[in-house]
Order: sequence, then structure tokens, then C-alpha cells
Amino acid sequence: MKKNLLLVAVLFGCGLAVSVFAAEGGAAMDHSMHHQHVMDDRISAGVHPEMKQHQLANMRSHVAAVQSIVGHLAKSEFDQASQEAHSKLGLTDEMKKMCSTMSDNKEFTSLGLAFHKSGDDLGDALQTKDMKKSLQALHDTMDYCVKCHATFRQ
Ligand code: HEC
Repeated sequence: MKKNLLLVAVLFGCGLAVSVFAAEGGAAMDHSMHHQHVMDDRISAGVHPEMKQHQLANMRSHVAAVQSIVGHLAKSEFDQASQEAHSKLGLTDEMKKMCSTMSDNKEFTSLGLAFHKSGDDLGDALQTKDMKKSLQALHDTMDYCVKCHATFRQ
């Protein structure tokens, strides 16, 4: 009889612990979701509806370009890294046209154009084959990624 009571007490204790844990987990989730919602005070760039998917695809190609550049740098392949920077991040005619027709927000557009200009500066820095200069230039280019993402959503 005493044994049974003990078992009930242990089981009850465990159940209580589990439900306290679950309640805490739930509270933590609510808190982070609430937090995220409050924190998204970015401005809409007003990306034209027909350009939205295109813009995101462009972005995914930008992050792939950065990854590729870092990989080349790790192997001191400066020429390939430079070529990647100019062709994928630089202000090519195609990029200029695309960037200028994304949205009517002038600040967004000029930030985009300045970003691509920095992609060409990065390509030039990589051409010097100086690792420190190259990393600094990559950092400067990525500054635009961070700045724009902090300010704008689609
Ligand atoms: C001039 C502004 C601007 C610059 C510069 C910029 N982005 Fe973006 N990026 C955006 C916007 C706007 C979105 C959409 C965000 C949203 O609506 O929540 C986005 C989304 C993305 C996404 C998500 C794509 C998807 O499929 O959802 C990735 C990845 C990304 N950017 C990578 C980069 C990288 C890497 C760089 C720099 C090398 C960069 N971006 C530079 C404006 C910019």
C-alpha cells in the first residue's frame, strides 16, 4: 500500500515536471514570436509585384556568389574570385537595368546601385591579390546587404 502511494507520488511529480516544462516552452515560443512581430519595422521598398520572385531569385544568387568568392579566397584563387565579383555582384548593364525597374523607391534603388558598384570595387580589390584588402572590400560590399536588409522588406 505504501509502495503504491510512493509510485503515485513519483508519477504525479514527473507529470508536474513535464507540464511545467511544456508551459515554459510554450511561453518562450510566444515571447519570441511576439518579439519578431514587434521588431519588423522595416520599410516596404514597394517592389513591383511582377518583380518580386525575380528579386528574391537575384538575392539567392548574390548569397551564392559571396559563398563562391569566400571559397576562392580560401584557395588564393584571386582571379576567379574577381571574375565572380564583377559578373555576379558588379554593376553590369543587365544589373543596372534590373535594379532601376525593381521599385519606385529612390532610396532603395540608389542603395541597390551603390551595392553593385561596390561589387565592382570588390572585383578590383581582388585583382590586387592582397588578402587583407580583399577581405576588407568583401566586408564593405556585405555592409550593403546588411544595411538594406535592416531597412527594407519587399
Ligand atoms: C538594396 C537592397 C538590398 C541589398 C543591397 C541586398 N538585398 Fe538581399 N534582400 C533585399 C530585400 C528587400 C529582400 C526581401 C526581404 C523581405 O521582403 O523580407 C531580400 C532578400 C534576400 C534573401 C532571401 C531570398 C529569398 O529567397 O527569400 C537573401 C538570401 C538575400 N537577400 C541575400 C543578399 C545578399 C547576400 C546581399 C549582399 C551580397 C543582399 N541580399 C543585398 C534587399 C537587398
